[in-house]
Amino acid sequence: MSLAIIMPGRNGEGLAERLKALDGGLDIQIWPDIERPEAVEFALCWQPPQGVLGDFPALKVVQSLGAGVDGLTEAIPLGVTLCRTVSPSLKTDMRDYVLLAILAEQRQWDAMAADQAQGHWQPRHYRRGGVVGIMGLGELGQAVAAGLAGLGFQLKGWSRTLKRLPAMETFHGPEQLEDFLADLDYLICLLPLTDQTRGLMDSGFFAKLGKPCYLIQAGRGPQLVEADLRSALDQGLLRGACLDVFDVEPLPPSSPLWQHPRVRITPHCASVTSGKELAKAVYHNYLAMCQGLALDQVVDPEQGY
Ligand code: GLV
Repeated sequence: MSLAIIMPGRNGEGLAERLKALDGGLDIQIWPDIERPEAVEFALCWQPPQGVLGDFPALKVVQSLGAGVDGLTEAIPLGVTLCRTVSPSLKTDMRDYVLLAILAEQRQWDAMAADQAQGHWQPRHYRRGGVVGIMGLGELGQAVAAGLAGLGFQLKGWSRTLKRLPAMETFHGPEQLEDFLADLDYLICLLPLTDQTRGLMDSGFFAKLGKPCYLIQAGRGPQLVEADLRSALDQGLLRGACLDVFDVEPLPPSSPLWQHPRVRITPHCASVTSGKELAKAVYHNYLAMCQGLALDQVVDPEQGY
């Protein structure tokens, strides 16, 4: 019985060491050096090469290294259970990223950094509070909401199906999107990538914003139509945007987003699963698989999250 680590370009050896520290008896194979594919029953994956999961006839469980499972829902062989990893630090990191992005925009931090580079003393007015709308009310969305609660923001939430959450007005489904977008000062996207969310943020969507809003996009790149984002910025529908995820990653050097004065770019690192927590979560599910117990963070492949 073997556990495969398939995460091209990432530190598979480091993770294998952490897993070995939890259980020295684990049989771990790291892609591409998988010598006994027939023994692999559990695969930990991040952006696995196309078709690779078909090489393991005994595969039972695939676990994503992160919260997102896009790319895996389509690749998973029939009958294999798909899980994701939402570690405690993934939630606190996302909470902090969103708060940082909001406060940096409110306090005009970028403008002051530019002033400093010019040796220019220019006190600036700043915003306070405001209406914050969170799209995606799963574990990350709820962690962000809990972090913002009590800090002077009015919270709204939008999800596919109805969710009732404390201290937040909630909306759901396409028919309530317009009401959700009507009065936002900040719009945060933490949605999973599904057929319903692909291309969601397009010009029609931005036209529904009731007032100029600041977008924080930490969901998945293909949810945002980048050309429509630029038009929304030009038309004043958006005050600015902080983007962590992109249609094509790494963002190509030719992308006009790099140079946009009102776009802040971070390279898909808003929140990152810590190696220690990842090893713990994987080991937990690996043991559960071996003992026939319920796995944590099982994904519904139909819903895509
Ligand atoms: C990061 O993008 C994740 O899915 O955890």
